[in-house]
Amino acid sequence: MKIAILNEKRPHETRVAGSPEVVKKLIEMGLKVVVEKSAGVASSMPDGAFRDAGATIAKDAATALKGADIVLKVQRPMIAGDRTDELSKFSPGQTLICQMSARSEPEFVKALAKAGVTGFAMEMLPRISRAQSMDVLSSQSNLAGYKAVLDAASEFGRALPMMMTAAGTIPPARVLFMGVGVAGLQAIATARRLGAIVSATDVRPATKEQVESLGATFIAVEDEEFLEAQTAGGYAKEMSAEYQEKQRALIAETIKKQDIVICTALIPGRPAPVLVDEDMVKSMKPGSVIVDLAVEAGGNCPLSKLGKIVSKNNVKIVGHANVPGRLADDASKLYAKNLFNFLTPMMNGDGDTFKIDEEDEIIKGTLITLGGKIVNDAILAMQAQPAKAEAVSKTVSDDAGAGE
Ligand code: NAI
Repeated sequence: MKIAILNEKRPHETRVAGSPEVVKKLIEMGLKVVVEKSAGVASSMPDGAFRDAGATIAKDAATALKGADIVLKVQRPMIAGDRTDELSKFSPGQTLICQMSARSEPEFVKALAKAGVTGFAMEMLPRISRAQSMDVLSSQSNLAGYKAVLDAASEFGRALPMMMTAAGTIPPARVLFMGVGVAGLQAIATARRLGAIVSATDVRPATKEQVESLGATFIAVEDEEFLEAQTAGGYAKEMSAEYQEKQRALIAETIKKQDIVICTALIPGRPAPVLVDEDMVKSMKPGSVIVDLAVEAGGNCPLSKLGKIVSKNNVKIVGHANVPGRLADDASKLYAKNLFNFLTPMMNGDGDTFKIDEEDEIIKGTLITLGGKIVNDAILAMQAQPAKAEAVSKTVSDDAGAGE
């Protein structure tokens, strides 16, 4: 069998879905690997590194895709109507594994089915123990959380730790985290290492202990709705208007005292909740910094702008696109390993067979299209509620980097 690793064409995308280490492992399993020219350059993996690992380098996507059974990508290919049509170069029967934003991109999912491509959406992976090593959302969010703190620190005109110097004492910075998922936890740990005074809020009760175990203070409206806010899948529910109002009042009071706010709150398949409104931004001290990691899903702060740093009342609001891609080398290596761990259970070990077990929980969650049809239960259920799907697709950026 042949695997193709393509060069990402979307703006802001610096990552690649393969690494020399993974290519070597695939070749040892008896597979052929072709990498599109320059695919890894922005991740510090030149063509020569892939060639040394045993891959062939193809001059363009069409050449790489010729005869390929499986195609690895970071983001979904662009379709007719986008700036270029990458999907038209695929052949029926090929298998594509990438992040698709499948819940929020119904047109892409339809086009994929029509093209006869078998599609696995990595952002739909169930959060079960067996799937941890395949979890692209975790590997990328972890890096994004770390980088968000560094981005905040570099925009902030002061130091994060307390410093006692002969010229006077610098007080430690106060950092507030909105959302304590994978990104939030790594970010809290990073800010603590840098010496900041950290507090955090979330709507899932399980996060309270996690925050406190990292030496940070937990702040939340802990009412009955809060106790029910976690879904069976471990994600947050969209909260009621009443809860949001109580949460708003609490955050408004807390935020005035903060120097840095890092927003990471997301609800899968829905626009990001608005948690830091314009009045809260106005109440912050001059020189404060907000980093909105949720900007690609509409943002936790309505003032954040995708791909930009904006200034409002002397508060900087950072909306970098594709934050994992700002650590492209590590992000690509972990992503490539995730795909390898996802792919190999479907092979018989000698690189000849690829078997899709539709009864397997991991396959059920991620398999979107097969045999020219949409086969994923969650996507089919969303299609039955078109208004909801449309609302999300309008909010989520077309060029989103980190998946959903
Ligand atoms: P996410 O990226 O979907 O959301 C980030 C955070 O935002 C979540 O903690 C969520 O509760 C929070 N949030 C949503 N609405 C909010 C609001 N209105 N106010 C404040 N916070 C809000 O979450 P992520 O990082 O993908 O993690 C989701 C869950 O999956 C977590 O419980 C995590 O521990 C779990 N997980 C489990 C894994 C496994 O067992 N294999 C692997 C990775 C994550």
